[in-house]
Amino acid sequence: MSHTGKFIVLEGGEGAGKSTHARAVKDWLEQRGREVVLTREPGGSPLAEAIRGVVLGDWPEGMDATTEALLIFAARAAHLHALIRPALAQGKDVVCDRFVDASYAYQGAGRGLGGATIAGLESLTLGSLRPDLVLLLDIDPQQGLQRAKRRGEENRFEAETLEFMSRVRDEYLRRARAEPERYAVIDAAQPQQQVAVDLLRVLEARL
Ligand code: TYD
Repeated sequence: MSHTGKFIVLEGGEGAGKSTHARAVKDWLEQRGREVVLTREPGGSPLAEAIRGVVLGDWPEGMDATTEALLIFAARAAHLHALIRPALAQGKDVVCDRFVDASYAYQGAGRGLGGATIAGLESLTLGSLRPDLVLLLDIDPQQGLQRAKRRGEENRFEAETLEFMSRVRDEYLRRARAEPERYAVIDAAQPQQQVAVDLLRVLEARL
């Protein structure tokens, strides 16, 4: 499927600083005269945000990995329908804080559902649509979890173990290495200003 707008995604483990840098990417594009939609997953549309509340909620019976994955992909389908596909079709750029790579990393690797299961859900939900550029903010899980804790708004994922977060990180890096033309890895352990410099350098080179 062809689209005229650029689809740019920020990914990374907990505490990598995606949200801050997503705004910087939006600003950079707007300074170049682009119309930009800034959004996030899970969520990004009213229905998808409602599903986000369910996914991140603490349920008495817990949440098994399959339920989690299906809910996240349901939110993604709603988000694609309501916001992402229309925006790209209108020639707008979409900057998204997390997308399908997070499902490979968190549900596929972290929860152990495996890449083939995620690939099936991806093909159902996305068809042939893929982000044009994935900016991976890479950080050591220990450092990332510390940062996330300092921020103080802990969700179910931020309460996960270091082992879980290491699987998440490894899967992100593996995917980035497998498709270097579509991914850029940025060292998010650096001071925020240096991360921003690296990020803008990638945008200058790739877009
Ligand atoms: P997010 O709002 O990006 O949280 P944070 O900014 O604290 O990293 O995402 C909320 C959580 O959802 C995050 O901990 C990771 C999880 N998640 C998945 O497990 N799979 C997915 O496909 C997505 C998009 C998010």
